[in-house]
Amino acid sequence: MENEKIIIIDFGSQYTQLIARRVREANVFSEIIPPGKKVKLDANIKGIILSGGPKSVYDKDSPRVNFDDLLNVPVLGICYGMQLMAENFNGNVMQSEKREYGKAILEVISDNPLFRDINKTSSVLMSHSDKVVTLPNGFKSIAISGNTDNAAIMCAEKNMYGIQFHPEVVHTEFGSKIIHNFLYDICNTKGNWNPSNFINNVIEDIRAFAPDGNVISGVSGGVDSTVASELVHRAIGSRMNGFMIDTGLLRKNEGKETIKTLRSLLDMSIEYIDESNLFLSNLNNISDPETKRKIIGKTFINVFEKAAGRVENVKYLVQGTIYPDRIESSSINGPSSTIKSHHNVGGLPERMHLKLIEPLKDLFKDEVRKVGKALNIPEELLKRHPFPGPGLAVRILGNIDRNNVNILQQADNIYISTIRKHGLYDDIWQAFAVFLPIRTVGVMGDNRTYENVIVLRAVTSVDGMTADWYDFPKQVLHETSTRIINEVNGVNRVVYDISTKPPSTIEWE
Ligand code: XMP
Repeated sequence: MENEKIIIIDFGSQYTQLIARRVREANVFSEIIPPGKKVKLDANIKGIILSGGPKSVYDKDSPRVNFDDLLNVPVLGICYGMQLMAENFNGNVMQSEKREYGKAILEVISDNPLFRDINKTSSVLMSHSDKVVTLPNGFKSIAISGNTDNAAIMCAEKNMYGIQFHPEVVHTEFGSKIIHNFLYDICNTKGNWNPSNFINNVIEDIRAFAPDGNVISGVSGGVDSTVASELVHRAIGSRMNGFMIDTGLLRKNEGKETIKTLRSLLDMSIEYIDESNLFLSNLNNISDPETKRKIIGKTFINVFEKAAGRVENVKYLVQGTIYPDRIESSSINGPSSTIKSHHNVGGLPERMHLKLIEPLKDLFKDEVRKVGKALNIPEELLKRHPFPGPGLAVRILGNIDRNNVNILQQADNIYISTIRKHGLYDDIWQAFAVFLPIRTVGVMGDNRTYENVIVLRAVTSVDGMTADWYDFPKQVLHETSTRIINEVNGVNRVVYDISTKPPSTIEWE
């Protein structure tokens, strides 16, 4: 099958990932590359999109692209991408008299394939301070707005289009339609990017990549590792060996329940390894968050390595890395800040000379869920809130012992089950309880108490990079706090965290 794709050159816009998602939502695969990377056109590349960016084309260190590399394929420049296009072909870009941020009215002034079937006037999102004032030879304006006569431009001969506004955001009324038109009317894509094609292709790729030898995978019950392991399992069957390591820092009963579901669901060999004693003793008297993470990571690798040593002829390791984990953003930003440093088995492939299988490396989280659904993995697993590798260790502030792990597990369990009971679980990106190692005064019956504090955290988010606290109905907080204080020994106070990210983080450590 033809693996058609659209290349998106990232000039540092906050919306670049959104462009990639919109293209994929239109069933065309897209890949983001930094501007420094040379584009080598091949038959699979059906078009190029140039993203927006924070720089001005006249800045000394503004990121560039060599348009000579792009000449045989349709190009759509968005905002900065359009200005770069105009400037490259000897048009003129200047600072606007006024910066234009927010909604504007776009008026289409000439029939063209990019705006096919959109209204003559519609609202669009603008976010720029420069504009194209003189068009290059061969280009013409196809739309105007209150602030510019060149809100959209095109050159039929070069098959190049430029738009000053952002079609990738929902505030642009016909944004998805414009992207759709670019893909299907201008780039002539067929639209073969969908979960079942993806699954078939990936299974073929895995079979070719790992024709013999055994494969190992750490399965946590999280969405990414479950979907990745199941894909590999479908590709190579019993050569796939799963391990679930219980660190003792999981949610209440989660280790045992997850392993039951996974075994019955996936029909895959998964060994359950309870090393909670080892993890807790290695963490004894450790209160610094980063040291906790390092100790957990190291212990995890040792346990995993020992377990993997029991499997013969191991050649490959599965990792549930997803696209946002590895996108190298444009050279102006350096590697994107979304790259996470906390892969639990980091370092293992080198030590054991293993090749990595990362079947989800091109997918966004919502795409992983769609693939999981097509693999018949139950929604209950796919919709699970993210859970950090170090688990409750970063939710117990200060030193960790069995007692405070117990207290936190009980409180967290009451909190999550109350959220589920009220049908709010799927509205929330992540909810959890935190144990504070400070004691406050309370009164129970006639007795004065002096016990610990539990914090409740719940946030909404798109990708975990920014977050807002969730506005619960009062009843849910009331019910949760009453139950925790009545039922969990050692807690006499419950507070709700109302901090956004940034400047706070989602986790407390
Ligand atoms: P923060 O606290 O940085 O969290 O706002 C953003 C997202 O990352 C998760 N997180 C982690 N995940 N290991 C992980 O696997 C970690 O050390 C870690 N720290 C934070 C956090 O739960 C949230 O989803």
